[in-house]
Amino acid sequence: MIEINLTGRKALVTGGSRGIGAGIVQILAQCNALVSFTYKQNVQAANQLCQEFQGKAQVLAFCTPAENIDAMRATVKKAAQAMGGLDILVHNVGALWPAQLQELELKEWNRGIEMNLTTAFIALKAAYPYLRKVPRGDIVLISSSAVIDGGGGSAFYAAAKAGVEGMMKALMRELPQKNIHINTIHPCVVDTDLFRVRYDTHEKRAKVSKQVPLGRLGKPEDIGYLVAFLCSQMGGFICGQSILVDGGRTMWRKT
Ligand SMILES: NC(=O)c1ccc[n+]([C@@H]2O[C@H](COP(=O)([O-])OP(=O)(O)OC[C@H]3O[C@@H](n4cnc5c(N)ncnc54)[C@H](OP(=O)(O)O)[C@@H]3O)[C@@H](O)[C@H]2O)c1
Repeated sequence: MIEINLTGRKALVTGGSRGIGAGIVQILAQCNALVSFTYKQNVQAANQLCQEFQGKAQVLAFCTPAENIDAMRATVKKAAQAMGGLDILVHNVGALWPAQLQELELKEWNRGIEMNLTTAFIALKAAYPYLRKVPRGDIVLISSSAVIDGGGGSAFYAAAKAGVEGMMKALMRELPQKNIHINTIHPCVVDTDLFRVRYDTHEKRAKVSKQVPLGRLGKPEDIGYLVAFLCSQMGGFICGQSILVDGGRTMWRKT
């Protein structure tokens, strides 16, 4: 029987207390990886997730603002010390709020780029010294189907998420030589708090799920399964890829 076994691998997931990040933490821990995650403020959600694995797997939480490079460096150091190293980075932090061009001011644009693109650079800078030392490092960047269809409700979001993909392509020229795999996942309509800000009623969510050929919204673990696969032996020859996890919605809506 083939199974995804991440025994001995040490992962850090940014923004892991809720939503997609929490789904990734759960699946990695279920595959027997050691997992640390960051969050911003929701201590209760972070503690709950750690408790879920108490006595079963090591899951550690760090309150760390993703936009602060010093804080991220300190957290990566502490997480690597606690886990005995670091060989997987999943950068998942992102933020979205609707804003039309007319109302979008430069300050808000800059904040959107900071949250969705600069945080990815910061996480990579903080994790790279550890990833380059291990026999195989993995980086998985969480972007968005917005890079394909411009969705999400604001120009900064699609622009920043496309920037994440561009960054991956540039880093393909240097990271694989250091045995670091890098891939990007584009989620779409995953039922999380972020999603529910935009689709805040049952009716709106039901309407969106009808746009998905597979007939349902995504679940955080749908993204977690792909992360685990990419970071396992089975993903050993996959590098520099952008993969949609969207139930077919993005392509279907284009046809
Ligand atoms: N949901 C979707 O349909 C969808 C679609 C496409 C792409 N995505 C992308 O997937 C990623 C996760 O989305 P989600 O829907 O799971 O979001 P979410 O429900 O809003 O969860 C966000 C997570 O990130 C943490 N976080 C937020 N700001 C942070 C900061 N400044 N520093 C550190 N941690 C921070 C939150 O921590 P606290 O608990 O402390 O607040 C929480 O754990 C994002 O990059 C998003 O753009 C989502």
